[in-house]
Amino acid sequence: MAWRGLIEEYRDHLPVSAQTPVVTLLEGNTPLLPAPRLSEMVGASVYLKIEGANPTGSFKDRGMTMAISKAAEDGAKVVVCASTGNTSAAAAAYAARAGMTCAVLIPDGAIALGKLAQALILGAKVLQIRGNFDQALDLVRALPNHAPITVVNSINPYRIEGQKTASFEIIEALGDAPDYHFTPVGNAGNITAFWKGYREYLAAGRSTKNPKMMGFQAAGAAPIVLNHVVEKPETIATAIRIGNPASWQGAIAARDESGGVIDSVTDDEILAAYRLLATHESVFCEPASAASVAGLLKVGVDPGSTVVCALTGNGLKDPDRAISQIEVPTAVDATMGEILKELGV
Ligand code: F0G
Repeated sequence: MAWRGLIEEYRDHLPVSAQTPVVTLLEGNTPLLPAPRLSEMVGASVYLKIEGANPTGSFKDRGMTMAISKAAEDGAKVVVCASTGNTSAAAAAYAARAGMTCAVLIPDGAIALGKLAQALILGAKVLQIRGNFDQALDLVRALPNHAPITVVNSINPYRIEGQKTASFEIIEALGDAPDYHFTPVGNAGNITAFWKGYREYLAAGRSTKNPKMMGFQAAGAAPIVLNHVVEKPETIATAIRIGNPASWQGAIAARDESGGVIDSVTDDEILAAYRLLATHESVFCEPASAASVAGLLKVGVDPGSTVVCALTGNGLKDPDRAISQIEVPTAVDATMGEILKELGV
């Protein structure tokens, strides 16, 4: 049977009823791709959860189908989010599908071009604020006190509910939970949701264990690792350039209850993993996503274990970063002689 989107597929595990108007772009059902070269490098069975294969190119679609469906059930006309880019693209797409107005607050000049293009072409009202993500989120939190508007950031609990389904899919694909789950950490909704999904499937008898939750922040934006708010977060991984995560406590709980770690990786480590994923595993993800694999390469795992790395967003989201990592080719004459000379074959 054709995939029906994650609300229909996981209805029994989600807070929806027959009255909920399902707003879906058939998100979910993303590949769990074996990574043979990484597996060899770390001495374990490594799989990549390709969340960039979702309709708007990131895992945010999972939470957004739930948040917008529930907003529609409540009769909402306008939704808003703060975003480093991907949440805004997802909110814009699902709101457009539901016929709602979508407003997004993004940090001026600090989101990847593909994400800005998406939010704009999908018809969102985009406000670039002179400030960072944390300031945008503070404003968004307070907005409902001033206007009838529904917040669809992950402080909206329906977002976490949708996002947890990625863990269900992983357990179904592997036949059990992995031993380790590596994921980037920004606003920390993602690690909180993955952990909830694993716990729920264990409780439902669908798996026999929980993975260790391994979260990785960028070194210049690592408030949870440092145990204090970072006022001026900095990293090339703009998706996780966050200094005061909303789901801070959720991330701590995931770490402590699972016996995992939350650590940081440098921008150089992130970019090395970003290039390695492309050249060794044929996966073009965005820089923030590569933080999971950078983390795996940094801390390692027990030999022979099963490992899942979440690759949260598509590489095409951030074309500027990709181009900055390679030598851009110069033009050559359109003759066979020139082509053969250049190819060296
Ligand atoms: N990876 C990508 C590609 C992201 O866009 C984000 C977050 C994360 C990882 C981290 O997930 O925030 O749940 O810990 N992006 C948010 C946004 C903040 O606005 O798109 P998190």
